[in-house]
Amino acid sequence: MKDKKHAFATRAIHDGQEAEPLTGAISVPIYATSTYLQDELGKPRQGYEYARVSNPTRDRLETNLASLEGGSSAHVFASGMAAINALCTTLKAGDHVVCSHNVYGGVPRLFNQILTNYRLEFSYVDTSDLNAVERAIQRNTKFLYVETPTNPLMTISDIAAISRIARRRGAEVVVDNTFMSPYFQQPIALGADMVVHSTTKFLNGHSDGLGGVIVCTKPEHAERFRFIQKSAGAILSPFECFLVLRGVKTLAVRMEQHEKNGRAVAQFLNGQRKVERVFYPGLPEHPQHELAKKQMTGFGALITFETGSLKNAKRLLGRVRVCSLGESLGGVETLISHPATMTHAALGEKGRKAIGITDGLVRISVGIEDVFDILEDLEQAIKAI
Ligand SMILES: Cc1ncc(COP(=O)(O)O)c(C=O)c1O
Repeated sequence: MKDKKHAFATRAIHDGQEAEPLTGAISVPIYATSTYLQDELGKPRQGYEYARVSNPTRDRLETNLASLEGGSSAHVFASGMAAINALCTTLKAGDHVVCSHNVYGGVPRLFNQILTNYRLEFSYVDTSDLNAVERAIQRNTKFLYVETPTNPLMTISDIAAISRIARRRGAEVVVDNTFMSPYFQQPIALGADMVVHSTTKFLNGHSDGLGGVIVCTKPEHAERFRFIQKSAGAILSPFECFLVLRGVKTLAVRMEQHEKNGRAVAQFLNGQRKVERVFYPGLPEHPQHELAKKQMTGFGALITFETGSLKNAKRLLGRVRVCSLGESLGGVETLISHPATMTHAALGEKGRKAIGITDGLVRISVGIEDVFDILEDLEQAIKAI
């Protein structure tokens, strides 16, 4: 398998997922150990010394994710937020980050309420506007942190164009690729320097474990992130690594089905009189539909729609039966949520208003159930509005 670069679905199943050499076990074992027997003083076996530093299950997952994102290395952490925090610990006091303005709410919470205490600086701009990105870059800007599509308004930023700007201005581009997964979007191939994910979402795919990853393209980054894993210790446990390894084996088929169902749900919602607006990059009326077609190979399964008021959103969310009311996304089950009071509550009313998150917005992560059951459920719930 090693010599040839196989297609995505093959790499998902085989890269890092080779049979275990001792017994031929076809699935990667969970190395549940905190330490390793050393052959003699100063001679750890195959370099394994202590599980915070390295673990074979974790190594396998990191090999797999680096391959799927087209990076040179990957480094997994205890959650998506732990990965994003680790990324920022490569910065120094006085450094500046330009960040997409409607990212997952936990990101500005980390940046504004924790990292600014360490004199890191953050500016929030609409990264779909290249002039705004250019204007926001300062002499001390180190990262352009881009989430595309954004959460929850599905705004698309042009990764290739932003990467060109960053290169010219001496900054690096980090893309949160959680919504699309490497199956539908390959930021590194478009010019990004690093990719982050909440593996909690599509990569795991079954809503049964938290995790995060940073995929890099440069040896100096790899060295730094290995050092951060060892020194700060927010690494992903072997069991959760195993869950992601198992999840990615079906990533290609899951993503195909997620997006097939996603398109059907978006079209259905778009035809509903009581739904005021649908945010989905796969709809021709989405303002960046053409860019989405250019930089993604599918439109995914995340859809946000406007019900008109908090009362309407509450009524609808109180009526769903197949769709589960809950935070998160990317699992096999359809999850439905209310950004204003859930994922984006930390922004406060003013912060939400500034970026267009209204009380009537509902976000749906379309799962892979039979689509007719999802549509029927939404139809009866919308009647409650
Ligand atoms: C786009 C995105 N990035 C990062 C995160 C944070 O990941 P985690 O919940 O695994 O810490 C989330 C969580 O919802 C997310 O949606």
